[in-house]
Amino acid sequence: MRKSILFHPEKMGSKEVLVLLIILMITKGECKASDGEKTCHPNDLKALIDFKSGIRHDDSFRLEKWIGRDCCKWDGIVCDNVTGRVIKMKLPGAMTIDDAPAQTSMDGVLSPSLSLLTSLEVLELSGLSHLEGQIPPLIGNLAKLRTLALSYNGLSGPIPESIGKLSKLEEVHLNSNNFSGSLPSSLGNLSSLGTMDLTSNHFSGSIPHSIGNLMNLVNLYLENNVLTGYIPKCIGNLQALQDLKLSNNLLTGGIPFSIGKLSSLRSILLDNNHLTGRIPSSFGQLKSLVTLSLQNNQLEGPVRSNLGQLQSLAELNLGGNRLSGKLPKTIGLLPLFTLSISNNMIEGPLPVEMSSLTNLSRLYLSFNPLNLSSIPTWLVDMPSINAIHLAGCGIEGEIPRYLQSAASRWAELDLSANHLTGSIPSWLGSFHLQHLNLSTNSLSSEIPATFISFEGLEELDLHSNKLSGSLNWLFQMRCSFPFGLSYVDISNNRFRGDIELIGKGSQQRITNLNLSNNLLKGELPKSIGELGWLWSLDLSYNQLNSVLPESLANASLLERLNLQQSNLLSGEIPQGKPLTGFPKSSYSGNRGLCGAPLPPCKRTQTSHP
Ligand SMILES: *[C@@H]1O[C@H](CO)[C@@H](O)[C@H](O)[C@H]1NC(C)=O
Ligand SMILES: *[C@@H]1O[C@H](CO)[C@@H](O)[C@H](O)[C@H]1NC(C)=O
Ligand SMILES: *[C@@H]1O[C@H](CO)[C@@H](O)[C@H](O)[C@H]1NC(C)=O
Ligand SMILES: *[C@@H]1O[C@H](CO)[C@@H](O)[C@H](O)[C@H]1NC(C)=O
Ligand SMILES: *[C@@H]1O[C@H](CO)[C@@H](O)[C@H](O)[C@H]1NC(C)=O
Ligand SMILES: *[C@@H]1O[C@H](CO)[C@@H](O)[C@H](O)[C@H]1NC(C)=O
Ligand SMILES: *[C@@H]1O[C@H](CO)[C@@H](O)[C@H](O)[C@H]1NC(C)=O
Ligand SMILES: *[C@@H]1O[C@H](CO)[C@@H](O)[C@H](O)[C@H]1NC(C)=O
Repeated sequence: MRKSILFHPEKMGSKEVLVLLIILMITKGECKASDGEKTCHPNDLKALIDFKSGIRHDDSFRLEKWIGRDCCKWDGIVCDNVTGRVIKMKLPGAMTIDDAPAQTSMDGVLSPSLSLLTSLEVLELSGLSHLEGQIPPLIGNLAKLRTLALSYNGLSGPIPESIGKLSKLEEVHLNSNNFSGSLPSSLGNLSSLGTMDLTSNHFSGSIPHSIGNLMNLVNLYLENNVLTGYIPKCIGNLQALQDLKLSNNLLTGGIPFSIGKLSSLRSILLDNNHLTGRIPSSFGQLKSLVTLSLQNNQLEGPVRSNLGQLQSLAELNLGGNRLSGKLPKTIGLLPLFTLSISNNMIEGPLPVEMSSLTNLSRLYLSFNPLNLSSIPTWLVDMPSINAIHLAGCGIEGEIPRYLQSAASRWAELDLSANHLTGSIPSWLGSFHLQHLNLSTNSLSSEIPATFISFEGLEELDLHSNKLSGSLNWLFQMRCSFPFGLSYVDISNNRFRGDIELIGKGSQQRITNLNLSNNLLKGELPKSIGELGWLWSLDLSYNQLNSVLPESLANASLLERLNLQQSNLLSGEIPQGKPLTGFPKSSYSGNRGLCGAPLPPCKRTQTSHP
């Protein structure tokens, strides 16, 4: 009845029509400007126009289409169709352009006017790389905000205290920015928060105790900051917590016992801090734990046998601590994929129960006083093992023949810093190793011919043995798959012969070549200039002669060069980048050398022999 009267404009004066229009505008939540164009809420419009004018360059070209006043139609903006207010602003750097994934960026400063978007529920401006500025201090006005995602930008400054007013906030992603300052205790007011990711910033100070109020928190990521102080005990209140990542900070004190109460925890990463004390016995109750990583702290005491109750544990990383005692037998009950205990004070013998770790792929036991004497025979039968690191474990005698029958493909073998004697066995060449480290032993053979078939080898470290013979194997190696040989250290041995083939064959990708302290002779060949990836070259303490080839100046990545005491090198140091940039000491003992950085050459000296 009323409605029908209202819609009879012929019965109204112009004033009434205007009032009606305003009523309609308010109830429909949209405005029509005099030119007929819709306009969004003036606060939303101002916020977005200010945002746009803060951006100097937008290589996604989304903002250049932000014209007119109907901001609800703009790219990346979503309005509520009842209130007409902006509820989502999503302009991620990662987008799809013509059905293909594309990474775009925006250059500029984040406008503080964004705090005018008071109906906003989702703010996503991540991965824009060059977006600078701060979180608007009045962010607390966005009372409906559920998602705040500003990761991978150049934002700085602190998290405003007012963030504590955002009681609906479910996700905060501020990772990989330049934020700093301490974490406001008002973060503890975010009772709906499920994910807090503040990784890779410069946050300092301690973790606020109020964090213990976040009953819905599932993921807490504070890695790569400069946080100090203790891990608060009340972290044990976070009953919903699944992922706790606090690595790479300056945290001190013990690991709270209360963490053992968090029965949903799947991963605990506390690596690279200054944590002390023991691994809490309560950790044996974390039945859902998949990853436990406590590397590089100052933890002491034993690896407790109740860790064997962790039915889901796939990764146990305890390297670089002061753990002592023997490894418990129960370790064999774990479904481990990685076991890393290097650089501790763990004593031998290893429990034979370890042989039932049928899923074990990566084993790191280096530098413990294990006194193994020999390589455990059960390693050979491990069906999944891929990386074996037993450096400095007191292994003696020859490399045993039984390794030949290994049940799985070994990709990494590190037996360095032991007491190995005898020869390098020729069957080793048929292993598909990517990384072989036999350095600092007493191996005394020539290199077996089978080494040339080492297809996937990337790193070879044989330094400090008594190995002999020529280097022909090195120049003939076919390693090319998938990356090619990149690191070779055979220094401190008794290799002889000349190096005229250097730079030939499959060495193209070599970045690090150390041949120092051998009995090498002959000329440095021109082909050395072919090593375009070379970063470090050490030929010191050999008996090389002749001039430095001009082509060495072509190894443009070369940063470290050592030719000391190659007594017979002579002639002018090739001028230009990079050779003249090295200190004089790089060339010391080569009396025939001259030219920068050494004293200038006398005319007669510069001619080639
Ligand atoms: C608002 O729009 C969305 C998507 O266009 C639609 O799913 C929803 O039903 C609309 N709501 C109302 C109240 O019209
Ligand atoms: C981060 O801040 C530091 C000073 O705190 C500054 O030197 C650096 O350039 C900033 N980095 C970026 C990416 O903005
Ligand atoms: C956080 O909550 C406390 C108590 O509930 C309240 O006093 C305080 O004002 C809140 N802080 C913010 C920033 O909302
Ligand atoms: C090996 O891993 C699989 C799947 O990750 C798991 O189901 C199985 O129980 C594990 N086996 C052992 C012996 O740990
Ligand atoms: C380790 O073995 C050596 C002999 O191989 C022995 O002298 C030494 O006492 C042993 N150390 C320990 C801690 O068992
Ligand atoms: C080989 O082992 C030695 C000592 O154990 C270590 O210093 C060296 O860095 C290792 N080499 C490579 C390539 O990792
Ligand atoms: C090459 O090896 C020698 C002896 O092992 C070592 O002293 C030297 O530092 C190494 N050179 C480089 C550049 O690493
Ligand atoms: C250095 O490289 C350039 C371009 O590859 C080549 O033309 C030149 O002959 C090289 N110089 C020497 C001395 O090998």
